[in-house]
Amino acid sequence: MVLWSNEGIVTASAGLRAFRGDLLDFRDDPRQGVQDAVRHVEDGLLVVRNGLIECTGPATELLRGLPAGTPVADFRGRLLMPGFIDAHVHYVQTDVIASHGKQLLDWLNDYTFPAETAFADPGHAAFAAEFFLDELLRNGTTTAAVYPSVHPQSVQAFFSAADSRRLRMLCGKVLMDRNCPPGLRDEAESAYAESASLIERWHGRNRLLYAVTPRFAATSTERQLELAGRLLDEHPGVRMQTHIAENHAEIRWIAELFPWSSSYLDVYARFGLLRQGALFGHCIHFDDEDWARFAAAGAVAVHCPTSNLFLGSGLFNVDAARRAGARVALATDVGGGTSFSMLRTMHEAYKVAQMGGHAFDSLDAFYLATLGGARALGMEDCIGSFAAGREADFVVLDPGATTLLARRTQQVPAGNVRELLFALMMLGDDRAVQATYILGEAAIINSR
Ligand code: GUN
Ligand code: ZN
Repeated sequence: MVLWSNEGIVTASAGLRAFRGDLLDFRDDPRQGVQDAVRHVEDGLLVVRNGLIECTGPATELLRGLPAGTPVADFRGRLLMPGFIDAHVHYVQTDVIASHGKQLLDWLNDYTFPAETAFADPGHAAFAAEFFLDELLRNGTTTAAVYPSVHPQSVQAFFSAADSRRLRMLCGKVLMDRNCPPGLRDEAESAYAESASLIERWHGRNRLLYAVTPRFAATSTERQLELAGRLLDEHPGVRMQTHIAENHAEIRWIAELFPWSSSYLDVYARFGLLRQGALFGHCIHFDDEDWARFAAAGAVAVHCPTSNLFLGSGLFNVDAARRAGARVALATDVGGGTSFSMLRTMHEAYKVAQMGGHAFDSLDAFYLATLGGARALGMEDCIGSFAAGREADFVVLDPGATTLLARRTQQVPAGNVRELLFALMMLGDDRAVQATYILGEAAIINSR
């Protein structure tokens, strides 16, 4: 499903430039058995024109055809891949990361809601947005589906900061009109009007897209959920993101708040929020019936392993999701999540899968963090791979970034990408990110 294209994106990085190193990207989901789903070019060249990918191939061949004077950045011995995509993260929760001792509902009340209340202040929001984007880029994440707070000014601050860095980002005002402190509460009708005007202002502006964002069913009245569905009907192409089935106490509460519902999922379905491409964080405590209904709708289950372990929420069953044919994405969920690093997130996803008796493949993990994430966000025509015409957002990974990583990756047989990637996801973090490029321009170069 393609909901947005990059036609008309104006890039400031005029001209031709090239990047030499080992290239890795996906043409398709490696689990589907498609031939050449993984593309690995040792000593390759990534050629970028005006911020978009022109071509890739073996460096020795392509260098000969480059016009004299074309700048070539030399990353030989490094791995270049499309920038990571974090499918669920809260920029307003950066300051509550690593808050001790609570599970979901107490964690929200004691840490998260007080921190989010401060985002009524546009100055605070602007400062936090800049820190957050720096942190994403340091970790090689170039696109994210982002939760702000309930305050429209927190959306403004985030989109302004992302726009001035020319980032491709998804965000939308959090909707919550009950069961939260007064400083975080909106009203169904005014929140609808505020969302509509934010959509008008930001959706499709440069590289930004809007997501209607009811926090979770517990903090919205039925009227608010109904209006969220209406916003989606009125604005085709606008996305939807929310939380579901994360924690047992949460699920019991939803059953009390919506006594007519047959399940948590049924609540969202009733208001038209269970739909193609809708992003649902967690989906831990689903039964077979939920999975079948979820998969049939074409919704996306966003797996947030560091958060699920940190909050003691449970173990996401990626295998059950896949058996049902559901779409899956991967995310940090900071501040419930404990790291901005998608490498660390893959690491924890591996351990969660092991607890269910499954070995999560490294190719699967990197696919989900790149092309799979782009597909989940409906952005695969713009980002997520090195196909010609895609936007040149990419990360440079250093397999020798730490002494341990260097020692382990030196043992990887030449050409064994699966093993190299596994070492990177199990031992790597922000230290493995040497540089992050946005539209072919360096956004971060980590010095060491
Ligand atoms: N459910 C509702 N809000 C949140 C949130 O901010 N974080 C997590 N992990 N779950 C939620
Ligand atoms: Zn979340």
